[in-house]
Amino acid sequence: MVNKQIGILTGGGDCPGLNAVIRAVVRRAAISNAEIIGIKNGWRGLVEGDVEPLTRGAVTGILPRGGTILGTSRLNPINNPETLEALKKNWRRFGLDGLVVVGGEGSLSAALELWREHGLPLVGVPKTIDNDICGTDFTFGFDTAVGVVTDAIDRLHSTAESHHRVMVIEVMGRHTGWIAAFGGIAGGADVILVPEHPFRLSRVCQLLKHREVQGRAFSIVVVAEDAQPHPDEDFLSTDVHEQIYKHDRLGGIGAVLGSEIERCTGIETRVTKLGYVQRGGSPSPFDRVLATRFGVKAFELVEAEQWGQMAALRGTTVMSIPLSEAVCELRRLDEEIYQVAEVFFG
Ligand code: F6P
Repeated sequence: MVNKQIGILTGGGDCPGLNAVIRAVVRRAAISNAEIIGIKNGWRGLVEGDVEPLTRGAVTGILPRGGTILGTSRLNPINNPETLEALKKNWRRFGLDGLVVVGGEGSLSAALELWREHGLPLVGVPKTIDNDICGTDFTFGFDTAVGVVTDAIDRLHSTAESHHRVMVIEVMGRHTGWIAAFGGIAGGADVILVPEHPFRLSRVCQLLKHREVQGRAFSIVVVAEDAQPHPDEDFLSTDVHEQIYKHDRLGGIGAVLGSEIERCTGIETRVTKLGYVQRGGSPSPFDRVLATRFGVKAFELVEAEQWGQMAALRGTTVMSIPLSEAVCELRRLDEEIYQVAEVFFG
């Protein structure tokens, strides 16, 4: 790999562990005498020609830092012929021999098309707090987000108990319930609502009333941002539906649900929308290790010219799978996990 120039970019929503991947790629590349070019702000940097060389010094001390030193964006270069042309031109201008794309479903889908349809040599690394990428048991960022949710539920428990209230906590996860289910189980939530199982408000209220009758006058309800009422019992107007369930900006079900719970149970209810704190801050040890292993694997794929592949975790092993396997569909919450969560409802 002597004198080879390998690019790296981080695209889509940031998450804890991105810097650990960048550091791992740079450190592993140094062993093979390859040079790493950092591409700024996701695909945008390649379209606009915004890059910086990543030396060992540039990645010193970044392992525990949240976010990404390269910046990120949600720009998808393949939908527009001009951005696609600019990207290819800059690829040649910077003499890239390969590219590591660290991204979620959107960035990895773009990577797959650029490799398959346009022949660009690249490999992928799956990142997202949502844990919704197929082919890998976990993405890095998820464990840290679950830690934030768990901590928040622990804090909400004490105030809920003191005031005999229902606390609704809305969490991220886009179209899947991984964060809600793991965070809810870890925090001991009394009800967990996920997109994979449309919920009935009557059942939620019944569970909360039952707890009250049993002497447990406080409850924690975790709701994923894309959890939806069952069509048989939909209490949302069309307008509210449109406001809450926008693909690129979900959010708001917690507030509506909180009002409905208070109305139907008569129990004072408060709502917390956890928001972007789930994505910020220092990665957990698990995420640091996973991101580091993915970074090393990604460089090894580059070195072996295994283009179109992605680093993935299966069980305890980091391996590679075709990018096409990772982005063909969303990875929904495991039914077994949901069934465990359900045991503790009410
Ligand atoms: O994909 C990560 C995520 O945080 C989702 O959980 C959330 O729905 C979305 O990104 C928010 O995106 P944005 O940063 O564009 O507001």
